[in-house]
Amino acid sequence: MAIREIRTKDDEILHKKCKEVKAFDERLAVLLDDMYETMQLHEGVGLAAPQVGILKRAVVIDVGGGKIELINPEIIEESGSQTGPEGCLSVPGVWGEVERPNKIKVMAQDRNGRKFAMEAEELLARAVCHECEHLDGKLFLERVTRFLEQ
Ligand code: NI
Repeated sequence: MAIREIRTKDDEILHKKCKEVKAFDERLAVLLDDMYETMQLHEGVGLAAPQVGILKRAVVIDVGGGKIELINPEIIEESGSQTGPEGCLSVPGVWGEVERPNKIKVMAQDRNGRKFAMEAEELLARAVCHECEHLDGKLFLERVTRFLEQ
């Protein structure tokens, strides 16, 4: 495994739409392992492939309950709402309040290409929504209703 460089907000790759993952191969496995290691080093709870310069629809998340890998994720249901602080490893030092659904249902594939459904709420739902937006070239900054002092 290796630590990869995290791209920051002015990098144009963070503003592009990512491509669907079609090859569930060793290269994808290495990318996911590297992303997880990089996220942990920086004490993040989620990381999307474009944040390490790869325009593929792949994210890793760990909000404390263990590693979750979502390949080609689609949020298919949303309910309720939550407003809370959010940050991003690509926007270091900035925190802002963002409204997200409180509960979501996601369809995704694992690193072997198997499809699965996952339900998430609260912090995990927030992390999934945040990371999925990275795959469409969007940063949380545009959703911030109030920036927070550190
Ligand atoms: Ni982020």
